[in-house]
Amino acid sequence: MRRFEGQCVVVTGGASGIGEATVRGIVSEGGSAVIADLQEDRGRALAAELGNTTVFHPIDVSCEDDIAAAITLAQTQFGPLTGMVNNAGIVGAIGSIMETSAEDFDHTMAILSRAVFLGIKHAARAMKPQGRGAIVSLASTAGIVGGQGPHVYTMAKHGVVGITKSAACELARIGIRVNAVAPGGTVTPMTNALGDNNPQSTAEFIAASSPLGIACMPDDIARGILYLLSDDARYTSGHTLVIDAGVTTGAEPPPFFSQDADILLHAGLRGSASTE
Ligand SMILES: NC(=O)c1ccc[n+]([C@@H]2O[C@H](COP(=O)([O-])OP(=O)(O)OC[C@H]3O[C@@H](n4cnc5c(N)ncnc54)[C@H](O)[C@@H]3O)[C@@H](O)[C@H]2O)c1
Repeated sequence: MRRFEGQCVVVTGGASGIGEATVRGIVSEGGSAVIADLQEDRGRALAAELGNTTVFHPIDVSCEDDIAAAITLAQTQFGPLTGMVNNAGIVGAIGSIMETSAEDFDHTMAILSRAVFLGIKHAARAMKPQGRGAIVSLASTAGIVGGQGPHVYTMAKHGVVGITKSAACELARIGIRVNAVAPGGTVTPMTNALGDNNPQSTAEFIAASSPLGIACMPDDIARGILYLLSDDARYTSGHTLVIDAGVTTGAEPPPFFSQDADILLHAGLRGSASTE
């Protein structure tokens, strides 16, 4: 299947985990991708491995100009922007709401929520002239129900679900679809602390807390993102696709994201590890 032949997609956080799996999927189906990420070494290595249908672009999604520049680069390098994946993320501020600082709140929201708003904004501007495009943002089961993540993460991911609906209402008129994917616990560097930084142990931990008894891997989430990006989803907009083995149907929430869980002291690349 070559669903992305001739297409050009920007993937924020594309150097690792779910973003990396998404980039690989786009390229394997004939598309081109800009890997827009903070992690230069990983991003450049992935672009070098995948060849001339990808390019790495260093970006901090908390900076509006960086997001706009990644989109401009995509258009210069590969032609009109057809897809945008707002995926970059951290765990961010952790701990009791009574102790969370406004600074930690602002930092987390800038990366998990504001950056998604700005990604939709600039992607829509770029896609408008073609009257066509698909935008997919990463929410989480923490964006569907409470108790699945730290407070600010939960608020930010609910915001992703909200802006997905709101932007879909406006942008449908100009041919742009806006959707989100809400993963449950997935084996990536973000969750690796669950298994003492051993991906195999992390997979076993996540499998043990999954209603299906298997670990969710980045490809399981990327398949949902690719579906929503592709013309297979041509009539789907404003939707959040939950990929969680049924956790948010009311199954017992996995224990690892309780407010004082050890993972939250370590996870995330730029999140605050402070509970002060
Ligand atoms: N892994 C999970 O269990 C899980 C569950 C639900 C939702 N998600 C969401 O999926 C998305 C991807 O997470 P992942 O699990 O693949 O994590 P990951 O840590 O493997 O990848 C995240 C990527 O985002 C990049 N990034 C972080 N801050 C950035 C910034 N300011 N600017 C640019 N890039 C930045 C990192 O460098 C990294 O490459 C995130 O939005 C996350 O919240 C993950």
